[in-house]
Amino acid sequence: MSERVLITGGAGFIGTHLTAALLKRGHQVRVLDSLIEQVHGSQGQTRPAALSPEAEFVAGDVRDGALVAQALRGIDSVVHLAAEVGVGQSMYAVERYVSVNDCGTAALFQALIERPVRRVVVASSMSIYGEGLYRADDGTIVQDAVRRARKPGDPWDPLDAGGRPLVPVPTPEWKAPTLASVYALTKYVQERLTLTLSPVYGMEGVALRLWNAYGPGQALSNPYTGVLAIFASRLHNGQPPMIFEDGEQRRDFVHVEDVAEAFVLALEHPAAAGQVYNVGSGEDRSVREVAQILARAMGRPGLEPEVAGKARTGDIRHCIADIGKIRAELGYQPRRDFAAGVAELAAWVADREAIDRGNEARGELEARGLVA
Ligand code: UD1
Repeated sequence: MSERVLITGGAGFIGTHLTAALLKRGHQVRVLDSLIEQVHGSQGQTRPAALSPEAEFVAGDVRDGALVAQALRGIDSVVHLAAEVGVGQSMYAVERYVSVNDCGTAALFQALIERPVRRVVVASSMSIYGEGLYRADDGTIVQDAVRRARKPGDPWDPLDAGGRPLVPVPTPEWKAPTLASVYALTKYVQERLTLTLSPVYGMEGVALRLWNAYGPGQALSNPYTGVLAIFASRLHNGQPPMIFEDGEQRRDFVHVEDVAEAFVLALEHPAAAGQVYNVGSGEDRSVREVAQILARAMGRPGLEPEVAGKARTGDIRHCIADIGKIRAELGYQPRRDFAAGVAELAAWVADREAIDRGNEARGELEARGLVA
């Protein structure tokens, strides 16, 4: 099966890797991307060098209905990646996040109603789970863990009724969403718009709930990007990584090529129609551990992380991925080893300019009382 695929937001980190993967599979790719300055820098109005030359590129905003209608001409399937992605930033740039993520998805579907495609795959996020699934001391599984207001010295982890820390366990797709940030709320709306509207107009909707994607091509100078890119930019500039909380919060870091592979499967596999899937590596790590592995890989083992002892509003404590469903139904198999992936990221960063805006971003949050 060879298709003409439109990728919204396709000139970014995940989009450029996905474009390469789809072209390799024999598909044709058209990318629609507004090249926002926070990601692409100030000379961002030109087509990024990382985007495969075989892909067609259309500059513009996914909220521009007329442009989207034009971009859909001749298209068989859509991957919707265009979105603002910072959890912390979403808690004050509310209008921008809701507009780009939700109105953007609405505009895409408004155009799709006139020109339906076979399948629409949307990038959702593990953020929609809020806190992941936990196990209490007595073995009960807890779905609705929340962090209470904390006094200095209290544990960072959510607690059970007896005040004991809950233990994180892999989170499957059936866990009910708990929307702890504006970002999470907008991702859930994107996901639901896709799954609600697609079948009404004869299309197949699929949502991928991504964990923390990393790898070469991350936006190094964007202080609201993922934690590994922020740490890489700090280390590159001789600064220690700055860790929120105590650094023991756990995530699943998944290599961007494995993420691209998950999108290819979500697009091609007949069983994916109407489904949601978690996408991770299946291994979890603490933020402190990844800071140390990265510092060693970048030749800066002496730059010990600074531990803030404060949390970002909207952040969750732990969320780790259960990838059993996508493995079983689509045959997804994460291939990239974390240490090798971090070494590759380090080598990629070494030849690049990375402006460290970490302090600026933290200042923006602190000024609004969003780090406490
Ligand atoms: C990230 C993505 C989100 C994606 C989700 C999927 C970003 C900005 N967010 O959210 O788009 O949907 O993964 O899993 O890419 N931290 C530090 N120091 C820093 C920055 C972050 O300690 O300088 C900590 C945070 O407090 C948090 C952890 O690292 O505990 C992860 O933060 P982040 O990379 O922003 O990811 P998520 O919130 O998991």
